[in-house]
Amino acid sequence: MEDKKFYVLPELPYGSKDLEPHISETQLKLHHDKHHLAYVNGANGILERMDRAREAKTDFDQKATLKELSFHIGGHILHSLFWANMAPAEKGGGGKPVGALAKEIEKEFGSFERFKKEFSAAAVGVEGSGWAALAICGQTRRPIIMQVEKHNFNVYPTLRIMLVLDVWEHAYYLDYKNERAKFVEAFWNVVNWAEAERRFEALAK
Ligand SMILES: [Fe+2]
Repeated sequence: MEDKKFYVLPELPYGSKDLEPHISETQLKLHHDKHHLAYVNGANGILERMDRAREAKTDFDQKATLKELSFHIGGHILHSLFWANMAPAEKGGGGKPVGALAKEIEKEFGSFERFKKEFSAAAVGVEGSGWAALAICGQTRRPIIMQVEKHNFNVYPTLRIMLVLDVWEHAYYLDYKNERAKFVEAFWNVVNWAEAERRFEALAK
């Protein structure tokens, strides 16, 4: 199994207290150190199991294994995007996008305020656990808001994500109890538009 790479939990790009008061240190640490880590370990455990089965030339349950694998990899990728698309206020968190992404949002949604309203509604309205994401379609080059249920639909997303918001209860329950809408509102104070812009520019190349 040498030379095989495995997933690694990324460090938070800011201190664990830096998103307060919008996201508390306890909430953020639990979310990153426990929940995200569980997806990393889950994905790696399945990869190891598949490696062993392939080495031993034994079979494994493809349907169950691939479903579980996409859940953990989806969780890991989405959380990795999520941490980086937030920032403390003193490092540019909150406010509005500027530059090419701002123009694209205005063109698609009519105004930033309209985009914010639609994205918030998408996040609040996710059925059960999931995510809201702003992505760009490779075919039309148009920005699209999407809802992701759990972490996946057994599919590795092909639309490129510029911004995501985790609305699993584990993302906000300690701070906001069952009031998801309050957490979504607070998110706009720590959204990192510079990172979303960077991702957008990378997609445009
Ligand atoms: Fe999460």
